[in-house]
Order: sequence, then C-alpha cells, then structure tokens
Amino acid sequence: MRRWWLDEQAHAGPEHLDAGYVAAYDRKAGFDPTEDIEVLRRHGLGPDSLVVDLGAGTGTFAVSVAPSCRRVVAIDVSAAMTAALRTRIERLGLDNVTVVDAGFLTYVHEDEPADIVFTRNALHQIPDFWKGIALDRIASFLRPHGVLRLRDLVFDFAPHEAEERIEAWMSAAVGDPAAGWTADELAQHVRTEFSTYSWLLESMLDRSGFDILERSFRRSAYGTYTCGRRGS
Ligand SMILES: C[S@@+](CC[C@H](N)C(=O)[O-])C[C@H]1O[C@@H](n2cnc3c(N)ncnc32)[C@H](O)[C@@H]1O
Repeated sequence: MRRWWLDEQAHAGPEHLDAGYVAAYDRKAGFDPTEDIEVLRRHGLGPDSLVVDLGAGTGTFAVSVAPSCRRVVAIDVSAAMTAALRTRIERLGLDNVTVVDAGFLTYVHEDEPADIVFTRNALHQIPDFWKGIALDRIASFLRPHGVLRLRDLVFDFAPHEAEERIEAWMSAAVGDPAAGWTADELAQHVRTEFSTYSWLLESMLDRSGFDILERSFRRSAYGTYTCGRRGS
C-alpha cells in the first residue's frame, strides 16, 4: 500500500470497532431496508443480480436483499461488525452472502462486475479526496447501467445557511441514545466526521461516471441517491 494511502480503520469511527456498541447498533439504527429493496427492484434488482453492500455494518440490508438476488458481497472495515454479520448469516442459514473484511479504499472485486452497489451511512467516514477515489473504485466494478444506491448524512444547503440548517436538524434528534442519535452525537458528527455538501458529492458522482436517477433529502441533512453508471 502506498504510504500516503488512508488508514480506513483509523477513520472507521471508534464506536464501530467496539463490540458493545455493535451489539446495540441495530436497535439504535432502527433501519428498515424495505423501501431500498423496492426501489432497487424498480431499477433492475432480480434473481440474477450480484449485489455489493459497502460499509455493511451488521448487515441489515445484506441479509434482507439476499432472498431477492443471486449473491451479496457485504464489506466492512470493522472486525466487530463483520463478526456480528457472520453470526447473523449463520443464524439465518443464508448461503448466498459473502462477508469481506475491507473498505471503500481496499476492497478488491474479483468477481464479474456487480449489478448493484448499496452503501448506507458509511461514505461520510472518509474525507472528500477519498470519497472521490471510493466512487471511482465503485464505478470500476459496477457494470455499465448498473445501479449505485447511496444514502448518507449529506448537507443540501449553501455554507451561509449552515448554522440555521444544522440547528434545525439537531432539534429533531432523539433523547435516548439507545433508540437513535442524540443532539450531542449529531454535533460530534458535524465536528469530527466528513459529511459533505450535496453539490460536492453530486459533482464527484458525475466525475466518476454516475447519472443521478433519483434524489431525495430529509431535513436538508440526509440524502438518498439512486444513480446509474454511464457507459456501454
Ligand atoms: C453507521 S454504520 C452503517 C452500517 C450499515 N450500512 C447500516 O446502514 O446500518 C457505518 C459503517 O461503516 C463502516 N465503515 C467505516 N469506514 C469504512 C470504510 N472506509 N469502508 C467501509 N466501511 C466503513 C463502519 O465500520 C460501520 O459498520
């Protein structure tokens, strides 16, 4: 590895490396992937699809999409997350989910090109320079017209609006850290993590060869993008 390459574990978020946090993660996240799977079906997800989930965490999306596709590759840099996911797969008796210990910048895709790449709440872990590289790497293993569904904390406003929008977003935070993200946690996210502006992310997506097919935002601070990879 080049000596200037980012250490993904050092940027993984210390909580994600902590087995105690991981054990409580699903309740805190409250993630229901039903809509993601429905949207992906509309964009070609089917029994022959190869699906890659980057930053898969405990694998809520990976295990939910598995019955609807041929194979899922679920990737994460946190050994605590991949251990929880392996246990979950075994418990569910799924035989078409492969778990890989790697990240956006280290995963090597040795299969045929993927049909779908999903990534939720993970890309903000790395700075923008690296997001550009991560999106290029995703485009390199996604087939032409394959679909990237990207969900993350992304700021859909201009810098001069930041104070008002961030405060409005934080005012909707939960009080109980076991059931969601508190205002303190959101403040820490803004201070220490790498959520970017929508207009920067969208430029990176374009440069990496993606067309944005659908886009939606919640409270100007949480973006969901469904993108098609250009090319033939
Ligand atoms: C907030 S969790 C989201 C997990 C899951 N995608 C979900 O939606 O529930 C963020 C995940 O990203 C992983 N992560 C952090 N940095 C990463 C990187 N560079 N490459 C891949 N995954 C990373 C963390 O280990 C963690 O599992």
